[in-house]
Amino acid sequence: MNLLENKTALITGAARGIGRAIALKYASEGCDIAFTDLVFNDQVEQTCADIEAYGVRVQFYAGNAADFESAHETVQQVKQDFGRIDILVNNAGITKDGLLLRMSEQQWDAVINVNLKSAFNFTHACAPVMMSQRAGSIISLSSVVGVSGNAGQANYAASKAGIIGLTKSVAKELGSRGIRANAIAPGFILTDMTAALSEDQRKQWEQMIPLRRGGTPEEVAKVALFLASDLSSYVSGQVIHCCGGMNC
Ligand code: NAI
Repeated sequence: MNLLENKTALITGAARGIGRAIALKYASEGCDIAFTDLVFNDQVEQTCADIEAYGVRVQFYAGNAADFESAHETVQQVKQDFGRIDILVNNAGITKDGLLLRMSEQQWDAVINVNLKSAFNFTHACAPVMMSQRAGSIISLSSVVGVSGNAGQANYAASKAGIIGLTKSVAKELGSRGIRANAIAPGFILTDMTAALSEDQRKQWEQMIPLRRGGTPEEVAKVALFLASDLSSYVSGQVIHCCGGMNC
């Protein structure tokens, strides 16, 4: 299958984890890949090499996705380098957990800026490019806790709920221009982000999951492939849960 042949995807925060898995999945379907992360490092180099092995074009752009100007500069550069942007994946994200009463303003602002404002920045910058193409698919990483809330994650849950509001609004505003917008709400996925949890916390999560295991980044990437490709040509404004049945 070459579900994404002749397409270009821009993925934020794709040096590792879910973003990297999405980049590799898209590349395996013939998609050229532009991706961002904070800095160039060994992980970026490895991800570039692994994408190139599929015989597609790849280009890395260093930058802070939370910075409005930098996001717009990146998108202009990608448009110049690749000529088009068919798929945007708003993936960059962080956690800074803590109970509400102990949460600092800095913890709140950092998570809202990196997780939510970054998605606004890149959607805002990519929308005119996609509008001129009269086609595009915007996919943003939400989370099950953006739907259910979670003690100790008020900032993170709020940012991920915000992603859902942004996605549904963009779907309504830009649908007439041929642009689809959807969100993925992963549950407990085994990446560096969740590796920071203790063994006890990990076991607690697994007990809440009907499939009794954490998901892999590749399992989220398969949903992202569906949403990027024509397989989902009539799907927009939706939140697809990828959580082993946890939020059902
Ligand atoms: P990760 O921590 O493994 O990877 C995140 C990547 O984003 C890293 O490469 C990091 O350098 C990059 N990044 C962080 N801040 C950035 C910024 N300001 N600008 C550009 N890049 C930045 O995380 P993971 O697990 O791969 O998560 C990816 C997305 O999926 C995030 O939005 C996360 O909130 C979401 N998600 C993850 C879940 C999980 O269980 N791992 C569950 C639900 C949602």
